[in-house]
Amino acid sequence: MTDELLATDPIGRFRADVLAGLSRPQKQIPAKYFYDAAGSRLFDAITELPEYYPTRTENGILRAHAGELARWCGPHCLLVELGAGRLTKVRLLLDRLDSPAGYVPVDVCGDHLLAAAAGLADDYPALHITPVVVDFTTSFALPGLPGVRRVAFFPGSTIGNFDPPEANVLLRRIADLVRPGGGLLLGVDLRKDPAVLERAYDDAAGVTAAFNRNLLTRINRELGADFAPGAFRHVAVYNRDRSRVEMHLVSDAAQRVSVCGRAFRFRAGESIHTENSYKYDVAELASRAAGCGWHLENCRTDERGYFAVLLLTVMDRSRHLNHTRQGVRL
Ligand code: SAH
Ligand code: AVI
Repeated sequence: MTDELLATDPIGRFRADVLAGLSRPQKQIPAKYFYDAAGSRLFDAITELPEYYPTRTENGILRAHAGELARWCGPHCLLVELGAGRLTKVRLLLDRLDSPAGYVPVDVCGDHLLAAAAGLADDYPALHITPVVVDFTTSFALPGLPGVRRVAFFPGSTIGNFDPPEANVLLRRIADLVRPGGGLLLGVDLRKDPAVLERAYDDAAGVTAAFNRNLLTRINRELGADFAPGAFRHVAVYNRDRSRVEMHLVSDAAQRVSVCGRAFRFRAGESIHTENSYKYDVAELASRAAGCGWHLENCRTDERGYFAVLLLTVMDRSRHLNHTRQGVRL
């Protein structure tokens, strides 16, 4: 199937990604497939867990600096949120923005996004909301609105779920989307004690384990597979060398699973790698962003230095060329 066809056929892409991922020596499935309706609800539950500090910490930063962030976005901007989820964090900005031209929440999980957008419309009746259900790694259009500054809001450290080369592609894509002069408010989870990180991804109540296993339930339902989710153990480990938390589903025993009529064998202890969550430091991410056309204007963090919100603008072309010539691109 061509890329174009796959883009208009989400189930076809899901099938192709799962079959290709399970055929690799280290079996893997892209993390974006966590987010069916049940997965999105489980993610929402994760954000309220005592161990999962990122959401609370980022909310604290946004609350503490909302006025400054809204002034930086500027009057009459078009705010575009990537991986918008249940549209909670954006309210902290919307409460302070000066007559925004519109708000475009983008998410791959349609049911969740449309329900959240309806709730937001009730609370912000004057706001022009245009939800877009799409995979944001593919191309999509924004409302025209000539002369309006575009600002992307990409919270939650979802950028951390992309391997570094994919993160670069995404950062360049966002720069193209918001155009020269446009902005990006980028939430990012920072490096810290591995014990804190591993607890955040393996909570005592087992919600993250359920989130991880739900991927198998989704594959069973949508692709006609026969995974026994209970036969896979949730594992979350911090990989220091690569500065990322890895989530895996580990097969308890040797078993054979059928997906779309194809058989896949698992050895006892063999895993499916389901997610990476990269942890950055601010200088490193700013340097990566600079290689992708962004200039870091400011950065806000919390007292513990757990999480950061970066304020980035699209560099003009000559500055970007100069920057990449100096070899700063990572
Ligand atoms: N922004 C929210 C939600 C983060 S969870 C927060 O900060 O709490 C990640 C969100 O991104 C989910 O809602 C998921 O459905 C969405 N998502 C993940 N990969 C995506 C992709 N490739 N395209 C569009 N949305 C994606
Ligand atoms: C959405 N994303 C940034 C979350 C994270 O922390 O990597 C997803 C998640 N996975 C397990 N817990 C939360």
